[in-house]
Amino acid sequence: MPVITEINDLKRIYRRRVPKMFYDYCESGSWSEQTFRENTSDFEKLHLRQRVAVDMSGRSTKTQMIGQDVSMPVALAPVGLTGMQHFDGEIKAAKAAEEFGVPFCLSTMSICSIEDVAENTNAPFWMQVYTLKDDDFMQRLFDRAKAAKCSAAVITVDLQLLGQRHKDLKNGLSAPPKLTAQSVANMMTKVQWGLGMLQTKRRFFGNIVGHAHGVEDASSLSSWTAESFDQSLNWDRIREFRKMWDGPLIIKGIMDPRDALEACNVGADAIIVSNHGGRQLDGALSSIRALEPIMDAVGDKIEVHLDSGVRSGQDVLKAVAMGAKGCWIGRAFVYGLGAMGEAGVTKALEVIHKELDLSMALTGHTDINTVDKDILMIPKDFSDNWK
Ligand SMILES: Cc1cc2nc3c(=O)[nH]c(=O)nc-3n(C[C@H](O)[C@H](O)[C@H](O)COP(=O)(O)O)c2cc1C
Repeated sequence: MPVITEINDLKRIYRRRVPKMFYDYCESGSWSEQTFRENTSDFEKLHLRQRVAVDMSGRSTKTQMIGQDVSMPVALAPVGLTGMQHFDGEIKAAKAAEEFGVPFCLSTMSICSIEDVAENTNAPFWMQVYTLKDDDFMQRLFDRAKAAKCSAAVITVDLQLLGQRHKDLKNGLSAPPKLTAQSVANMMTKVQWGLGMLQTKRRFFGNIVGHAHGVEDASSLSSWTAESFDQSLNWDRIREFRKMWDGPLIIKGIMDPRDALEACNVGADAIIVSNHGGRQLDGALSSIRALEPIMDAVGDKIEVHLDSGVRSGQDVLKAVAMGAKGCWIGRAFVYGLGAMGEAGVTKALEVIHKELDLSMALTGHTDINTVDKDILMIPKDFSDNWK
């Protein structure tokens, strides 16, 4: 195994091993990618306050997210097409998360189905649902999640329309990949990936094909997606989804304090401050900048998580110091998965854990639950210099 010391090492290997179409799918933001870039660069604007001569022994990063024990405040974010980054990718990532003691969240647009993941793992996972018009499909999705013993549902509210990502259109992204001269030529250079894909039968959207009316094969899926996502979504509709699921509920994709307060009113247990990894509204603030005003608005009415741009344990520490109860990682785990399957996801988690643990210690803390804003030096205009 090559020496992996940071998430970027995994990204370099990932880029070599996975077909361009899927690398580009992961490594894109919408339009100019401004928000995608700022999600990571804004973390660097926050500085950490070094403390010395503090007893650093006996440290712990253990905490809880929505009342569930986690070995560190990190969850694997729902990522569509994960099973195209590596064969059986959702199962592999879920196993690595289980082993590490952090939550795994399955995307509606996954390749392995809810049932596939449940059959191949032991720990309960979380289920992400997109907001579709079809009540019947929605109810069945929640019911399937319940039957699979999912311990939370995550409703993504920032994707009624798909943000435009130029590369996906140019590459003709699909699952399984369309065989064009260009895609075949590129796939032939990704031998390990191809051998893996030949071993599995899971190459289609497992939660949808055969479950949504009128979708029996993947070729009709793109039109199904465009027709099915509910552009008229509003908070009353989200209240209806709340009734369809009686377990813990997380609302994902909040960037404005007013929306955060609405989420409190629908009876969610947590919100994720997220701009979908810069894949939806380009020009939106980075989520780390959006966090503080949201924390101020909701107080302790609801648990607040954050995603978008988290690439290191230091990023996790900074978000936790700003008040987030946990962070979600999307690309950081996909890099690991594409680079080396389950072992790569484990590696990504190990890297983040080590960075978190060490940085926490050097800021003078031994318990992640005691970390607060005091460890941060925040530029004066970081969160509130906007007209
Ligand atoms: C390739 C890719 C696919 C994604 N698919 C989904 C999805 O199916 N459902 C969802 O709610 N979010 C999806 N997201 C957003 C992630 O859940 C998460 O918000 C985002 O990745 C966080 O940003 P990060 O990648 O910088 O960590 C996706 C993100 C990526 C990169």
